[in-house]
Amino acid sequence: MINYQHEPFKDFSLEQNRQAYTDALALVESYLGQDYPLIIGGERITTDDKIESYNPANHSQLIGRVSKATKEHAEQAMQIADATFKTWKKVKPESRADVLFKAAAIIRRRHFEFSALLTKEAGKTWVEADVETAECIDFLEYYGRQMLEMKDGRPVASRKDEFNRYDYIPLGVGVVISPWNFPFAIMGGTTTAALVTGNTVLLKPASTTPVIAYKFMEVLEEAGLPAGVVNFIPGGGGEIGDYLVDHHRTRFISFTGSRDVGLRINKRASVLNEGQIWLKRIIAEMGGKDTIVVDAEADLELAAQSIVKSAFGFSGQKCSACSRAVIVADVYDDVVSRVIELTNALTVGSPEDVNNFVGSVIDAAAYKKITEYIEIGKGEGKLVAGGTADDSTGYFVHPTVFVDVAPDARIMKEEIFGPVLAVAKAATFEEAIDIANNTEYGLTGAVITKNRAHQEYAREEFHVGNLYFNRGCTGAIVGYQPFGGFNMSGTDSKAGGPDYLTLHMQAKTTSEMY
Ligand code: NAD
Ligand code: ALA
Repeated sequence: MINYQHEPFKDFSLEQNRQAYTDALALVESYLGQDYPLIIGGERITTDDKIESYNPANHSQLIGRVSKATKEHAEQAMQIADATFKTWKKVKPESRADVLFKAAAIIRRRHFEFSALLTKEAGKTWVEADVETAECIDFLEYYGRQMLEMKDGRPVASRKDEFNRYDYIPLGVGVVISPWNFPFAIMGGTTTAALVTGNTVLLKPASTTPVIAYKFMEVLEEAGLPAGVVNFIPGGGGEIGDYLVDHHRTRFISFTGSRDVGLRINKRASVLNEGQIWLKRIIAEMGGKDTIVVDAEADLELAAQSIVKSAFGFSGQKCSACSRAVIVADVYDDVVSRVIELTNALTVGSPEDVNNFVGSVIDAAAYKKITEYIEIGKGEGKLVAGGTADDSTGYFVHPTVFVDVAPDARIMKEEIFGPVLAVAKAATFEEAIDIANNTEYGLTGAVITKNRAHQEYAREEFHVGNLYFNRGCTGAIVGYQPFGGFNMSGTDSKAGGPDYLTLHMQAKTTSEMY
């Protein structure tokens, strides 16, 4: 067991923390609208073509303009990363881990500022942003310690006059492609897992949230990461994404994002390109259609609270979000009426106001998709809460609940990625688990039950990578609940888990005769 504890969350009932967050929002305001370059081999490169990042809760507010990499920049970054690999792979694991520990310390010192930037750039409420900043620190602290634990490989047996070793060595150049919904924690976690294991990285952050990724690059530099180990190349998924995935020197791809892009990357990466001498390794964490099942023997208040918090935290824009509740008939009406009450009581509005539980959704495309699904839902279930939206100043969608939805309805099966909850009734507990499994995804799920036999049944039959009992289905903690899903939710790489770093390395056996 490694010596690690997760970063505590800030208590916003304390005046000093509220003041610190308000000051941090003002600090972030002071640097809004700046230009940010690419970083290739430590060199800042400014391009004419820019990605503009806007505040989704106040869409006229420019967060920053980030240079956009072309294929030529991607090629330049690949050559630098390939050359830097020759030296970085020889740096001691202890020194590589030290960079992560120092970066964690820098982020911890500026915790409120990074959270405030997440509020501005991703529309995260104070609580959601704070949890994400803590998660980013956790990844650094955890992966640093994991690397120290694995630096001498694993023990293997040796016979008489023989000495066997089993060591881990890095892979090469990794392409890290990250999503906007955890633009700090997932971007930072996937990047540092790749570099602490001795690989070099081409980092392509999501185009809606590139500024926080640039700020993370500055942290890595301040922490002493040599130039060229991580190269910052924001750009269009279709343009440089495909180029990097196809490149013959790409050794592995660490992708977190949607099912469709994950499938595209998996397919393209399987093609052998000229000059390529390896099978590319794919780490792909994709979408979810996550369910909370409520048993007849259950704490019904806990059930309703868990459903509402998991469905509407960060406007339902988590791969882990509860987008379906399946409730056993005996308690269906009671749970549904409490879910409606709690949903209607949620405060919706600017995430800069600590009193709001639900902020905006990420952009115009997400707003359109979610509101279209609300229209689909009206034909598939009974609308009992929300259903309204307003994009006049920011992209706000009211928490929406549909009940009496059939298990095979589209809103029960497709990832909406917004604050829309579909509720279905099951005759028995076993039927509820069947409905929960009736999706191509398999990321998170929760079961609210006091029945031990039902809990054991779900442990065996509920096919999800992260299964929770008597709590919500979001909020996995690094090092405590390793995170990753089955089926179309991805390769089940379990970010923040004890096996994660091995995905970025290859094991080498040596056997010496005496
Ligand atoms: P997305 O798939 O649209 O984009 C993810 C990243 O892929 C972005 O950086 C994007 O620019 C890039 N990309 C797009 N096309 C590409 C291509 N052809 N080649 C290479 N890269 C390309 O996803 P998103 O909207 O940013 O994120 C939301 C999705 O991510 C949801 O489906 C959510 O469930 C999923 N997600 C999963 C996890 C998990 O751990 N399983 C965590 C967070 C988010
Ligand atoms: N790791 C995040 C959660 O568990 C996605 O909610």
